Amino acid sequence: CNVVVLISGSGSNLQALIDSVAHDGNPARIGAVICNRADAYGLERAKQAGIATELLDHKQFDGREAFDAALIQAIDAHQPDLVVLAGFMRILTPGFVQHYAGRLLNIHPSLLPKHKGLHTHQRAIEAGDSEHGCSVHFVTEELDGGPLVVQAVLPVMADDTAESLARRVHQQEHQIYPLAVRWFAEGRLRLGAQGAMLDGQPL
Ligand code: GRF
Repeated sequence: CNVVVLISGSGSNLQALIDSVAHDGNPARIGAVICNRADAYGLERAKQAGIATELLDHKQFDGREAFDAALIQAIDAHQPDLVVLAGFMRILTPGFVQHYAGRLLNIHPSLLPKHKGLHTHQRAIEAGDSEHGCSVHFVTEELDGGPLVVQAVLPVMADDTAESLARRVHQQEHQIYPLAVRWFAEGRLRLGAQGAMLDGQPL
């Protein structure tokens, strides 16, 4: 299973994926990492792991459609079975999402459908949530709205700050994202008409 990973930042989820392939028997193969920011530390992580990298700066393009068209070209050059969004901070066009229907995963730092969008940890605290966490989902046209694959739940403590919560959620992300990619690479996970399916059963 050839995987292309899209990043914009530190790439700790990319690192978790690299580690699970290298040390944990995850049958995925990371064919390339594509990034829209030259200063993203994730690019270093990819290079250190010997993974091909590509920089595609959205500011060099005249609008979302043009950027996404170039992005599709860059991704498809690697003929991926799966495209993994790992902290890729761009909203994708419907055309892009449709092109990768059923083979595009995202991770979001909240218990979806709660807290779509940004600043999820702060919002969980402000809402008085007793639980918070992260979600892996198939990407559809609705932002942070596609069918869920797996979630990790953790308690919100009375003294939690957005930073302390973010740290604990991140650790959970590093468990569930490699797991979801492994399921896909093993041919166990797919997007059915009613939602995500694992081993033929609805999730
Ligand atoms: C993660 O919190 C992820 O849920 C969100 O962006 C962040 C990426 O972190 N979509 P990293 O670059 O993988 O460290």
